[in-house]
Amino acid sequence: MVRDGRILSNVVSSQVKLHADYGGVVPELATREHLKNLLPVTRAALREADVTVPQLEAIAATQGPGLPSALMAGFKAAQSMAFALRKPCVGIHHHEAHLYSPWITGDPSAAIFEVFEPNVSLIVSGGHTLLVHVTAELDHRTLGSTLDDAAGECFDKTAKLIGLPYPGGPEIDRLAEQGNPMAFDFPRPLLHQPNDDFSFSGLKTAVRYFLEKHPVRPDDPQRLRDLCASVQAAIVEVLVAKTVRAARRLGLGCVTASGGVTCNRALRRDLATACQGHGLKLRLAQPRLCTDNAAMIGILAERKLRRGLPAQPLDAEVEPGGALA
Ligand code: KG4
Ligand code: ZN
Repeated sequence: MVRDGRILSNVVSSQVKLHADYGGVVPELATREHLKNLLPVTRAALREADVTVPQLEAIAATQGPGLPSALMAGFKAAQSMAFALRKPCVGIHHHEAHLYSPWITGDPSAAIFEVFEPNVSLIVSGGHTLLVHVTAELDHRTLGSTLDDAAGECFDKTAKLIGLPYPGGPEIDRLAEQGNPMAFDFPRPLLHQPNDDFSFSGLKTAVRYFLEKHPVRPDDPQRLRDLCASVQAAIVEVLVAKTVRAARRLGLGCVTASGGVTCNRALRRDLATACQGHGLKLRLAQPRLCTDNAAMIGILAERKLRRGLPAQPLDAEVEPGGALA
């Protein structure tokens, strides 16, 4: 629930535990869970925000991209609510919501966008790795994206190879904290290529070959920590270097980052150091707004309505494959 650029409530129903047994998201299970949780989560959001149904001005939901059946559960429910309440329904692009999430301050007196400035934005999560040039508020163009695996996918898949539980990103982050990032030398894909794209599947393969030669030994926990720190360092170095390089090339003074992988402490630290070194301002999404959440969807929807952008017709379809502009 949001009002005037501020979060009144942000209820997140995580399915991480449900999917952990399968080592990844099972689409059928995800959709069933969405259907089961939709109304309880909506009621909890209203209750926490102390808002009643008649007070609602509009309903927003993610329109895409993502798993078609899971998107449909949320978007069709939002359209039904909007129809019943005779309110507009705003379909939001998932990546665009991440893109503007670093501007949500958490300070109740400072509404989003009051302090906006042009920036290069890194969006890193389980399904996407994007570098975006945000020229003005609600005006952006994608500079590059991953050619294969997303950064979060690389964290999760390498963690699985190492034998860590799903989702692997937070596990690698935790173990890497006491590891030596220079212990093992993994590739930094596309680091020196003159483009803004990323590629992480080769790094995952390098870890697999490494483990074939040097299996993880339960009696050597420090080696496991060193391995996690070294994998993490390879991912983070590429993300930081290419983001900062794009900002400098475009003559911008500000960098932002969002998406689940932006919870990663090494990424937050190294981005801060690199930006400071180059005189760039840095805005990182708050950790609770990095992983998927409804607040970032609502904030962007409200902003679009306030700027006079139209809501979607109530029979609009989900857009599972829709790329960011
Ligand atoms: O944005 P998000 O919640 O969902 C998608 O839209 O994909 O991101 C989830 C991803 C997962 O791959 C997870 O492993 C990763 O974010 N992640 C992390 C950390 N916390 C979450 N990766 C590295 N370090 C973390 N601390
Ligand atoms: Zn996401």
